[in-house]
Amino acid sequence: MDIFEKIKNNRGPIGQHAKESHGYFTFPKLEGDIAPHMTFRGRKRLNWSLNNYLGLANHPKVRKADADAAAQYGLAAPMGARMMSGNSNFHEQLENELSAFVGKQDTILCNFGYQAMVSAIDCLVDRRDVIVYDAESHACILDGVRLHMGKRYVFKHNDLEDCRKQLERATKLADETGGGILVITEGVFGMRGDQGILKEIVALKSEFKFRLFVDDAHGIGTMGHNGGGTGFEQNCQDGIDVYFGTFAKSFALTGGFISSDEQVIEYMRYNMRSQIFAKSMPMPLVVGALKRLELMRKHPEYREKLWEITRALQNGLVKAGFEIGVTNSPVTPVYMNGSIPEATNLIIDLRENFDIFCSMVVYPVVPKGMIILRLIPTAVHTLDDVNYTIDAFSKIVHKLKSGQYMADKIASV
Ligand SMILES: Cc1ncc(COP(=O)(O)O)c(C=O)c1O
Repeated sequence: MDIFEKIKNNRGPIGQHAKESHGYFTFPKLEGDIAPHMTFRGRKRLNWSLNNYLGLANHPKVRKADADAAAQYGLAAPMGARMMSGNSNFHEQLENELSAFVGKQDTILCNFGYQAMVSAIDCLVDRRDVIVYDAESHACILDGVRLHMGKRYVFKHNDLEDCRKQLERATKLADETGGGILVITEGVFGMRGDQGILKEIVALKSEFKFRLFVDDAHGIGTMGHNGGGTGFEQNCQDGIDVYFGTFAKSFALTGGFISSDEQVIEYMRYNMRSQIFAKSMPMPLVVGALKRLELMRKHPEYREKLWEITRALQNGLVKAGFEIGVTNSPVTPVYMNGSIPEATNLIIDLRENFDIFCSMVVYPVVPKGMIILRLIPTAVHTLDDVNYTIDAFSKIVHKLKSGQYMADKIASV
């Protein structure tokens, strides 16, 4: 079998729809400044699809810091991997400030969030160790687990009893191999918006010996009294042994970081393959991250505004009769029932006739017959945006229930 022939014949679960979807449902182009109102196909749309939680992406101080840093340092500096030639005072300052922000001894910066998770998992465990992880973990965790040469056990999503059962199995095995156990879960699950059961898992440390690694991509900046993450929110940050935050969401940047005990981070600096064999994070990103962190610390009102919009949106949707499931974070999924063609027509109606842009999740990501419209509120949305959206959603769900989206496409795109 020729590799190219195989690829041409099987385009993958999403790729098989590329011809009809490209540019509209997939790879859409949102243009203009990152904001609640952006241009899509020449028209302004109310946009609920970006994780710009605190509204920092287009904050004037952030834009200025980014531009000044790019002008001063260029995008190339520093050249080489951190270990060889790419270190700087700013990289170390950012690591120190992030450590203080998330309440850990030390931090390692990583060029990309996804790659950081994969590589950190790979770095922390060897073939004798056992991984226990949540079944609904993000792809970066699953890929990290795939690299693991030893055994892994998966527990049902946020199911404490199943986690305990898998820990029992893992403990038996680790006793035989002489290895340790790494439990991996998330602070906030990005699809349903439910927090991971961090406090409960931390409490299992009285029964089992393991280390807990938490991917808090959606929690950093949004959760906890200080924005320091879901561990603070649940009052168990000290029980999280390794903490991951991305810059791709609240920070409105690119990159990420891992925080832990000093000796663990030192080990990672010298053993984490994605960092020792890759170029250092460019200076404008480092300086830009420092500015964002400063604003997060100085302006708790951004987080408070995010939560005000979140509560208005979620309470308003529930009051209007919508099902939003178990979210206890800003991530707001709206669950509806319908086929994929109905979901397609509904999204077209929402975009073309209501000028609302949000992402849609359908089978195979969720069970057949389920449609999820996923809304991400931010600190820069307004209560008018919220009310307009709930009103529009009430209209489209009425059309959905009365079968109006069953016909052929209602509008050509
Ligand atoms: C839970 C989770 N982990 C990791 C990542 C990857 O982070 P990044 O976009 O910084 O690569 C994401 C998505 O951005 C995510 O949602």
